[in-house]
Amino acid sequence: MKYSRITGTGSYLPARVMTNAELEARVETSDTWIRDRTGIAERRIAADHELCSDLALAAARRALEMADLTADEIDLLVLGTCTPDRVFPSTACLVQRGLGMREGSIAFDLSAACSGFVYALDVANRFLLTGGARRALVIGAETFSRIIDWDDRSTCVLFGDGAGAVVLEQSEQPGVLSTHLHADGQYEDLLKVDWGVGQGYDRLNAASGTVSMRGNEVFKVAVRTLGRIVDETLAANGLAKADVDWLVPHQANIRIIQATARKLGLPMERVVQTVQKHGNTSAASIPLALDTAVRDGRIRPGDLLLLEAFGGGFTWGSALIRY
Ligand code: UT7
Repeated sequence: MKYSRITGTGSYLPARVMTNAELEARVETSDTWIRDRTGIAERRIAADHELCSDLALAAARRALEMADLTADEIDLLVLGTCTPDRVFPSTACLVQRGLGMREGSIAFDLSAACSGFVYALDVANRFLLTGGARRALVIGAETFSRIIDWDDRSTCVLFGDGAGAVVLEQSEQPGVLSTHLHADGQYEDLLKVDWGVGQGYDRLNAASGTVSMRGNEVFKVAVRTLGRIVDETLAANGLAKADVDWLVPHQANIRIIQATARKLGLPMERVVQTVQKHGNTSAASIPLALDTAVRDGRIRPGDLLLLEAFGGGFTWGSALIRY
């Protein structure tokens, strides 16, 4: 089999909208600051009873419906998240059960923070190309609101909850043309959640499980790194910037997205932008953006898509896709 191809997309957003005005009432910030510095106007927040697996399940069902497949036809489920329901079972296993996938099919979580979806897509693509699976669900799902310090204005205005999914199938027709993954663990202090079961019971009770970020420093590395990965991806495929129809970027900050679009020479009309309404949904942001533009008819069969992500770890990656 020569390629894997996306045959369905789906997404889910919790119903609850949190506006910038609500955050103004909570921390020392302003709608103007948030819009100017990030582009974000609102984000969605999961209800108390909604877990990461619930969001993922809803997105996966929609992707299956578009692909005209039932869950028992899926061999592999890879779910990118850093806000799983629990330590184990993996959120992927919970979604596998919820969908009614075949007993014995493969399901696992993948942790690469905001690059989780691109990492998961890369892994699933390799499974399909080597015959380890024929059809896969690739999901990015996050409940970031659970790891936010709602009194920290430098982070609480940035993030939101959501999920996105794609169905990937073996194909003779071009689909995923290449994927490129990278990581550099040296930057832990710039972006982290200072909590983990490995730190033991006392730390667990210290309620320190929230995101901290040196935003301005992360911003500079993100812009530099995403510029490099654009070049790497196009060079690997012998393609020119002008060949790209759509940039489907990770949605952390409109200014980072604009910088990557400039690097590609793409007008913003050819960039899928959801950060305004979704905020930064980490691993969910790319499949959410992709599904938005597929369903509103902007992304058409045959279009060349460049997906790129950058996040905690640091991790970063890209995928070039003939849709
Ligand atoms: O998705 C994973 C990767 N994450 C990212 O890529 C995020 C990268 N970083 C960013 O998007 C931006 O750096 C931020 C949006 C987080 C911050 O924007 P910035 O332009 O880099 O602002 P800054 O951190 O340099 O802060 C500028 C000022 C500071 O005040 P002083 O020191 O100039 O007086 C901050 O204290 O803005 C202040 N500030 C705020 N003011 C109002 C920080 N947060 C807020 C806020 N409201 N929410």
